[in-house]
Amino acid sequence: MKVAVIGTGYVGLVTGVVLAQLGNDVICVDKDQEKVEKLKQGIPPIYEPGIEEMLKQGLKDGFLKISNSIQEATEASEVVFIAVGTPPAEDGTPDLTAVRAVANEIAKHIKKYTVIVNKSTVPVGSGDMVENIILSHGVDSSLFDVVSNPEFLREGSAIHDTLHPDRIVIGAKRRDAAVRLVELYATLQAPMIVTDLNSAELIKYGANSFLAMKISFINAMSRVCELCSANVADVAAGIGSDKRIGNQFLNAGLGWGGSCFPKDVQGMVKVSEDLGYDFGLLKEVIQINEDQTHHFLGRLEKRLGGFAGKKIALMGLAFKANTDDIRDAKSLVIIGEVLAKGGSIVAYDMVAEENVRQQYPNIEYVSNVYELSKDADALIVVTEWNEFKQLDLERLGQGMKQKVLFDGRRIYDRAKAERAGFEFFTIGSV
Ligand code: UDX
Repeated sequence: MKVAVIGTGYVGLVTGVVLAQLGNDVICVDKDQEKVEKLKQGIPPIYEPGIEEMLKQGLKDGFLKISNSIQEATEASEVVFIAVGTPPAEDGTPDLTAVRAVANEIAKHIKKYTVIVNKSTVPVGSGDMVENIILSHGVDSSLFDVVSNPEFLREGSAIHDTLHPDRIVIGAKRRDAAVRLVELYATLQAPMIVTDLNSAELIKYGANSFLAMKISFINAMSRVCELCSANVADVAAGIGSDKRIGNQFLNAGLGWGGSCFPKDVQGMVKVSEDLGYDFGLLKEVIQINEDQTHHFLGRLEKRLGGFAGKKIALMGLAFKANTDDIRDAKSLVIIGEVLAKGGSIVAYDMVAEENVRQQYPNIEYVSNVYELSKDADALIVVTEWNEFKQLDLERLGQGMKQKVLFDGRRIYDRAKAERAGFEFFTIGSV
């Protein structure tokens, strides 16, 4: 099939390279000329395992083209994906400026029947909004359909998630339009859920809100565990073994961050509010998430007798492993609070360092994890990078002022850490 993908951010680029690999003729479009030039050379603007190889392969095989022209892409394609950013606005609703701009541009170039697919995460009613924009350009309603096809990929495993989705959600007003997408995805052999437009849009918000709720639930349980000397990992294993609950997304930690959960849970609250429902449950999910980091930092602050004059070493800066993304990363909350209270920070994250450096150019960065310990008063595991799991803990602690280890991602075994001489603190067990 001939496909255009407008926007080469996480979702757009991954969708584009995967559809090209499946043998479709894909044009990926971005208005950022610098990005376009790099993509043409096979250099992806994001860090994501596997994407570079797939991008290069698509360009080499000729299935993938990169362009800055929505006109060229729309005229050449049967299906046009809108995959531009929808960052949260002040009030928590997603900012749809980019979606509107792209819809206006696509509308100018529709000359034959085209399926326009909303892949960006958008609130209920956005499909109708795109439809109205296209109609406002005088395009006949028989020449196009708007379809919602939300994306569920995770950063760090985006290619795998796109090739092996649990389900594909396709929301459309007319069945014919949905069938086009069913055909496009047929080779993936995933269950297809075909719905109306609004339901598809709600599924995306609902899924992310539910997952965030699961994490906040186990984090709230971790607080109770700390109070009664229980172990949250055992509690999670016991709860999660019930098939109705499932054991995924029950890892207690510093809380959730990233580009999706904060925006989508907030978005779900706002969308519900606009429709006349107060989604108090999700407000609490957000509150628990914020409290979790502050509670953890509070324990460290208490142990050190305040942060003033203390050097805190951060293991990891990304919001989770296998990404350079620092959007709503807990590292930023920790850095902000420690600095505000008179402490200093030394950080290690080979992948996400550059992004944090732009916000915090004056904190200390090291290029070897073992260099973190020099004169540090405490180490905090912020991101669960695999490389941290097999470290020589004795060496890690060498040169510290105080051998205090706060494991914010529960990657270390207490006995092992204590044998290495650490005073060990973790989440959800004493
Ligand atoms: C998420 C959704 O999983 C994905 O379906 C959607 O398309 C985009 O949002 P992503 O943000 O890439 O994906 O990361 P994910 O792996 O879901 O983790 C989100 C956050 O939750 C991270 O901060 C992670 O550290 C945290 N998390 C996850 C936990 O604290 N505990 C868990 O058990 C799982």
